[in-house]
This record gives sequence, C-alpha cells and structure tokens, in this order.
Amino acid sequence: MTTGHFSGFSRAIIDPMAFVTLDPANLVPAERYRILVSAIAPRPIALVSTVSASGQPNLAPFSYFQVGGNSPPSLVFSPTNGPSGMEKDTLRNIRETEEFCVNLVTRDMALGMNQTSADVPMDESEWGIAAFNQVSSRVIRPARVAESPVQLECRLFAIVEHGDGPGSANYVIGEVLQIHLREELVGSPESIRPIGRLGGQMYIDTATGELFSLARPSGSPNRQ
Ligand SMILES: Cc1cc2nc3c(=O)[nH]c(=O)nc-3n(C[C@H](O)[C@H](O)[C@H](O)COP(=O)(O)O)c2cc1C
Repeated sequence: MTTGHFSGFSRAIIDPMAFVTLDPANLVPAERYRILVSAIAPRPIALVSTVSASGQPNLAPFSYFQVGGNSPPSLVFSPTNGPSGMEKDTLRNIRETEEFCVNLVTRDMALGMNQTSADVPMDESEWGIAAFNQVSSRVIRPARVAESPVQLECRLFAIVEHGDGPGSANYVIGEVLQIHLREELVGSPESIRPIGRLGGQMYIDTATGELFSLARPSGSPNRQ
C-alpha cells in the first residue's frame, strides 16, 4: 500500500528560539568573514596561474571557488579586493590577458600552495617560492602546475564586481577550454580527492579525512 509519505522518519522539533539572527551590516568585517568561511566549507582550492600583459607569471590560491556549469564547462572564483581596496595581481592579469589556468590542490601540494599566497611584489613570481614545476598549456599562455592532478585551461567569460572596498568580491567566470587529467584518473575522476579549506587555518584532506592547519606565510594578512 502506498501511503504517500516516508515511514520511519519523524520530523524533529526545532525550537526557533535556539537561533540568533545577525544582520551582517552590524558585524565587523572580520566577524562576517569568520562566520561565512566556517559555514560554507569545505571549499576546494583553485591554484590559479596567470601571466601579465608584459609576460610576468603569477601563481596564487583561491578558495572562493566552484564549478558553475558543464555545457559549456565553466567555473567561478573570487579574488577579493585587498585591505586597502587594491585588486590582486591575479585579477589584474586576467583583466589584461583574459586567460588563466586553474590547478586543483592535493595534500602533497598543500605546503607549496600556502607559500604561493605570500604577498610578493607584482614584478616577482610565486612559482619560485613554492618550487612547483611548470608545464606549458595547450591553448593559453599561463603555465600548468605539473604537481597538480587536474589542470584546467580557462578563458575569461565575465568579471562581476560586487562592492568596491576591502574584501569586496570580483567573481571571475571562466570557460574551461582544456582539461588535463592525470592518466590514472581518466576512468575514475572520483579518485581525484583534493584538499578543502575550512574556517580559520583549517583544511581537510578528502583522501584520508585528515584535518590539518596551515598558518599563512609571514607578512601576508590572515584574512583574504
Ligand atoms: C588556501 C587559501 C585560499 C585563499 N582563497 C582566497 C580567495 O578565495 N580570494 C582571495 O582574494 N584571496 C584568497 N587567498 C589569499 C590570496 O591567495 C593572496 O591574497 C594572494 O597573495 C593573492 O595573490 P596575487 O596578488 O598574486 O593574486 C587564499 C589564500 C589561501 C592560502
């Protein structure tokens, strides 16, 4: 007999008074950041390789990152404006050249990835700091990170700005032009198992369930 509803489940009684409702406008930016990045987690990490119009390579991690569609394949990440409202080098390079390569990050890449988040002058490259190896891309100028099991060559589709002060968003939407996947993963992409960013300095390794923390390199702000 069909009852029209699931049996074996009973709806829990939730006390609406158990919630505190916060108006983001009444929170300081650090509090808003802390709550959002702890709640919207784990986030995958895009290690983004770009090149400036004058040819200077750049590499930096971004966890405000997601896939957005698959026909055509597209993704989005957000380099937020820095503490003084300045745009990050990655965003500036993408505005100039409209190309970038997203490299997914696994546990063995975590320390190097973290190093690339250091605040270095625009005319210096983070590639040397992290000692990652470069592989040429097929259709764009920025190189791929050889250590990454998945590298996505992207062309800029749109940049959507939301706000203009420190911490404001710049949603970079890219179309994926080439997918480079390590050979052994082709039949089983479910085995990719990247690391995920949690709140604070915490990360999770989705391959093992290990929780670990990494302090940001000295000299760089802990918040984005
Ligand atoms: C794991 C991780 C995730 C990060 N995610 C972001 C992010 O989503 N958006 C952002 O603006 N900065 C993020 N950052 C900070 C940037 O990587 C950092 O500001 C970097 O210096 C930017 O480099 P660029 O100026 O060369 O583009 C993150 C840092 C780490 C370590």
